[in-house]
Amino acid sequence: MIRVLVTNLKGGCGKTTIATNLAGAFARGGLATALADVDRQQSSLEWLKLRPAEAAAIQALDWRKSVSDESSGVQRLVIDAPANLRMKEVELLIAQADIVIVPVLPSIFDEGSTRRFVRRLDEIKPIRKGKKGVLLVANRLRSRNRATQRLEMFLGEIGMPAVARLADRALYAELATQGLTVFDPQAGRASLQGEQIRAEWRPLLRAIEDEA
Ligand SMILES: Nc1ncnc2c1ncn2[C@@H]1O[C@H](COP(=O)(O)OP(=O)(O)OP(=O)(O)O)[C@@H](O)[C@H]1O
Ligand SMILES: [Mg+2]
Repeated sequence: MIRVLVTNLKGGCGKTTIATNLAGAFARGGLATALADVDRQQSSLEWLKLRPAEAAAIQALDWRKSVSDESSGVQRLVIDAPANLRMKEVELLIAQADIVIVPVLPSIFDEGSTRRFVRRLDEIKPIRKGKKGVLLVANRLRSRNRATQRLEMFLGEIGMPAVARLADRALYAELATQGLTVFDPQAGRASLQGEQIRAEWRPLLRAIEDEA
């Protein structure tokens, strides 16, 4: 099993979008997948309730009060963390994960908080010792936009290049209202836009599979 934690103390950077789409990609790839929601807002669990019965199945885990076990045979576990956790709580979640994914937006307001968060992650033992990897995902990019260029500079500066770059696409929110992801066939998989979007996810999916 590979356990992926999606976290950043910053709100609204795309944790739930990335967690749900990753779970969708794994499930669609034929892997037994569970999605654990730690957020009191239950965004991931609400999304799972909307998921059509014919879509690739994803097991729901409610981790708001405590961590619960997934059913046996789960091959991919995705954990959707809330914003504004204390570092102690982040540390507890990291204990449940093999890989940590940190979404970051091209916004000056996100830079400082991401810098501090990544530094604090580095102080957590399994990360410091290189036992668990941290992968940055640049999210909601707009091509040739100043903020996007700035984000690339920022990531270079902190010495953590983004493992994947996801463009800003209205399709994510649209599909989310139907419990779907860009990996589901119901999402118009054959469309050129769908193919382009999935291509953006490939480096991230590959990096996760490298952990297997
Ligand atoms: N790549 C993207 N393109 C377009 N919209 C996006 C993208 N990623 C996220 N969004 C939108 O940004 C908003 C916040 O995203 P999301 O809920 O995934 O963030 P979050 O980090 O889980 O937020 P919270 O901290 O509240 O849990 C949502 O409306 C979502 O649809
Ligand atoms: Mg969320």
